[in-house]
Amino acid sequence: MSTTEGKAHGDASRRDAHTRRQAELPDRLQAAGGMIEGAATQVAGETEGSEAAAFGVASFYSLLARPHQKVRVCTGLSCRMKGADDVLAAAEAAGLPVEECSCLAACDVPPAVLKDRVTLPEVSSADMRATKGDWSALVSSSERVHATDDVNEVTWCGDIGPVDADPATLSINMGAAEDYSGAGLAKAGELSDEAFFDELEASGLQGRGGAGFPAHIKWRAVAGQPVTERFVVLNADEGEPGTFKDRELMMRRPDLVIEGLAIAARAVGADAIYLYLRGEFQVPRERLEHAVAQFEKAGLIDGLQFHMHEGQGSYICGEETALLEALEGKRGMPRLKPPFPVEVGLWGKPTLIHNVETIACVPAILAKGGAYFKAQGRDEAGAKLYCISGHVARPGTYELPLGVTLDELVEAAGGYVGELKAFCPGGASAGFLPASERSRPLDYKSLAEVGSMLGSAGVVVLNDTVDMRWACLEQLRFFEEESCGQCAPCRIGTRYLRESVDRDVAGDCQSNGDSALAHVDDVAWQMGEGSICGLGQIAALPLTSARQYFPADFATAGEQT
Ligand SMILES: Cc1cc2nc3c(=O)[nH]c(=O)nc-3n(C[C@H](O)[C@H](O)[C@H](O)COP(=O)(O)O)c2cc1C
Ligand code: SF4
Ligand code: FES
Repeated sequence: MSTTEGKAHGDASRRDAHTRRQAELPDRLQAAGGMIEGAATQVAGETEGSEAAAFGVASFYSLLARPHQKVRVCTGLSCRMKGADDVLAAAEAAGLPVEECSCLAACDVPPAVLKDRVTLPEVSSADMRATKGDWSALVSSSERVHATDDVNEVTWCGDIGPVDADPATLSINMGAAEDYSGAGLAKAGELSDEAFFDELEASGLQGRGGAGFPAHIKWRAVAGQPVTERFVVLNADEGEPGTFKDRELMMRRPDLVIEGLAIAARAVGADAIYLYLRGEFQVPRERLEHAVAQFEKAGLIDGLQFHMHEGQGSYICGEETALLEALEGKRGMPRLKPPFPVEVGLWGKPTLIHNVETIACVPAILAKGGAYFKAQGRDEAGAKLYCISGHVARPGTYELPLGVTLDELVEAAGGYVGELKAFCPGGASAGFLPASERSRPLDYKSLAEVGSMLGSAGVVVLNDTVDMRWACLEQLRFFEEESCGQCAPCRIGTRYLRESVDRDVAGDCQSNGDSALAHVDDVAWQMGEGSICGLGQIAALPLTSARQYFPADFATAGEQT
């Protein structure tokens, strides 16, 4: 080895060691107890980094930043409609170390509460009172949770449907038994690279994480990069209010997720797969680990390494580049795009990153064919997992043709509770639509036509008891809380919008006598134009859509429902 080569080799291994230590930072901070006295100093010493860097990471993530808050009550829209405020007040009155938190991906079993890092469904005020101030004694008296705090005994599964579905119309089929035969993997092994990508293209599969981007384009792009080291990343950070399908899927069909990841890794030439799960998904994590073990036992995933990564509490880490930053052990702040992850992703290498549901569709596409998958949808391809919560009889996750209407979805979920007033078709990011849109197909194109989106397909139904100003205030609070603060239009705009609605509620005017909401459209425009990522670009939509469709709710001093 020449001196230059030796120096280059030394630099590379020093860089690798540094990269590894940086990536361990959040886990080490968790082990040190989060942001408590001395933790940043200790972790800085362990990782040979600066105290400021350790402090910067610890203060970014909610589970690290406030480790003493052992009870967190979700005050997202679906949970507040089911009495989360009362549950929070009962927890405070019981003397529990409690705070509010954003959506826990359990909107089908509200109000949801996080106990340390485990989500409890349907927690009541009586459950809080029964603790007598000892957070470790908190149990949900709902029937889904046994009277134990052993996480393995929490079933974690919600309702699924439609109950009478013909299995031939389902690509995922959450009610079926797990299948470790590896039929999709075997079929993928028989196809040439081109034939494989053609099959994926024929399926019409669009990313299920929100943007609906055609999957085959990303796969071809990663496979075609002139770099040997590549990664596959699973985005299981599900946190969009109203969305819980990925949780349900990982619980019921972890086999499909792991098989889909293995197929993806082989197709794009990666051997390392990173699974990023939000920190609250400890039980889904166990299910995925179980599935990896089953495939290993069957000898079907030789040569592939599966790395599990636990998030530390941050909605923005669901944005793909923020997620990559978080995996690298940094504050989860979105990167500027381009370059896109398919070219410059995890540690600068080409990276295929997908949502849990997108990946879980892949085994069926291989085993049954692209044309079969495509035919399950209407105008757009495939069957789709829709989450439904709010004012419906049977909240849950429903696998239906992509493009069903709200009325069809709600029929599968047992019908409306009360008279439909409005709905969010795809989580908080999609804003609100009025009842008159109930027959619009819930697909990517049809919802974009009315300035909304399918997003994560987190459908929240609101009946005519709901004041839309109150509902939009709830969504604005969420975006203000979850903005990473990196860019000014989003950081300042999310706060300005929330404060404007607060002033509208209080009946206050601007100092010059203008109405409290006089400037919100200008601010919304600036946020849309000037924000780095999707959060800031759409954060005004709950307000602008609610004002567009329900002006009367803003003209009066309506009370909370
Ligand atoms: C603010 C924000 C939050 C997001 N959260 C998630 C998420 O929790 N899960 C997810 O799969 N995609 C999320 N996305 C979309 C991802 O950035 C990315 O598009 C997706 O992981 C790509 O996978 P797909 O092609 O399978 O959809 C989010 C995007 C934004 C802008
Ligand atoms: S738009 Fe908001 S969340 Fe996105 S990078 Fe900017 S400040 Fe962060
Ligand atoms: S879990 Fe509370 S709104 Fe989603």
